[in-house]
Amino acid sequence: EYRRASPAELDLRIRAARHALGERVVLLGHFYQRDEIVQYADFVGDSFQLAQAARTKPNAEAIVFCGVHFMAETADILARPEQAVILPNLAAGCSMADMADIDTVQDCWEELTALYGDGTDANGRAPIVPVTYMNSAANLKAFCGEQGGVVCTSSNADRVLRWAFERGERVLFFPDQHLGRNTGVAMGIPLDEMIVWHPDQPLGGNTPEQLRKAKIILWHGFCSVHKRFTVDQIAMGRQRHPGVRVIVHPECTMEVVNAADEAGSTDYIRKAVQGATEPTTFAIGTEINLVQRLAKEHPQHTIFCLDSIVCPCSTMYRIHPSYLAWVLEALERGEVLNRITVPENIAAPARIALERMLALAP
Ligand code: 13P
Ligand code: SF4
Repeated sequence: EYRRASPAELDLRIRAARHALGERVVLLGHFYQRDEIVQYADFVGDSFQLAQAARTKPNAEAIVFCGVHFMAETADILARPEQAVILPNLAAGCSMADMADIDTVQDCWEELTALYGDGTDANGRAPIVPVTYMNSAANLKAFCGEQGGVVCTSSNADRVLRWAFERGERVLFFPDQHLGRNTGVAMGIPLDEMIVWHPDQPLGGNTPEQLRKAKIILWHGFCSVHKRFTVDQIAMGRQRHPGVRVIVHPECTMEVVNAADEAGSTDYIRKAVQGATEPTTFAIGTEINLVQRLAKEHPQHTIFCLDSIVCPCSTMYRIHPSYLAWVLEALERGEVLNRITVPENIAAPARIALERMLALAP
């Protein structure tokens, strides 16, 4: 029924259900969502802002999260227990988040604590502190909460890493090696003090000497969307558009971040474009829906995506208006579909790690 409905019919049905539900529902949308979805959102933001937004309407019965699974889990951890968090399509995951699972991370942690010890030094600092990127399963956030660690997003990774280094000698950072490395470089940590942990290899694929020197142990994860951006694309962009301002997301490789003029979260990119007072040419290295929206909203600028072969996040794209109409109409009938629930034994320690981040502000 929903699949056969035309875009115009779906639009009418979504608007009618939203109207009938009124304040009972709050709709959150990530910047990477398609325009057909973003138009209905009460709040559009980056992953940090959406985590905060999950708490802004405590009286709403339901939070409909137009984003990916780990974001909905985070909203459920932070929202009131009575509030239902709904992910319109349960297949909207994140391939990077799937690259780290609790068992493998725990095995790595055991190896590292056997190597570095697990007590604190005379200053109360631990030998190693775990830091998880927001793009991770709830049980990994819980692991960080239990082990004195914290969560970060791309908008606060440097601040969070500084917090972690006040509490520990080293950091285990997962799942995104690129965000970890780019943040470490920006903090002045030498490259040979950042190593990658490959769980299928002895000592994570490192020598004892590398492990001894390491300040940041990076998980081997990456984002398949941001991995597509290259230094050659930047060189080409500069050649074709002299004076172009190149901004990329820190999930891009270090080489790409170094070749760009700036790197920052989705909200950073949006604000950079909004803040440009003179007509400017921007080449942007992030998901296409955000880039195209920025181009549409700012006709005074020339804005293009560094990757000319369309670069969408296929899982974000799985939130189609038909799914939104389906969950909203069900809510109107009093039926909760696609609820994301994090059990309290995981939510409680995960909340600790999230609260540590929220207390640091973006
Ligand atoms: P932001 O934290 O910038 O919203 O990014 C989330 C994400 O998934 C980027 O790929
Ligand atoms: Fe995950 Fe990459 Fe999509 Fe972000 S863009 S949700 S990191 S797959």
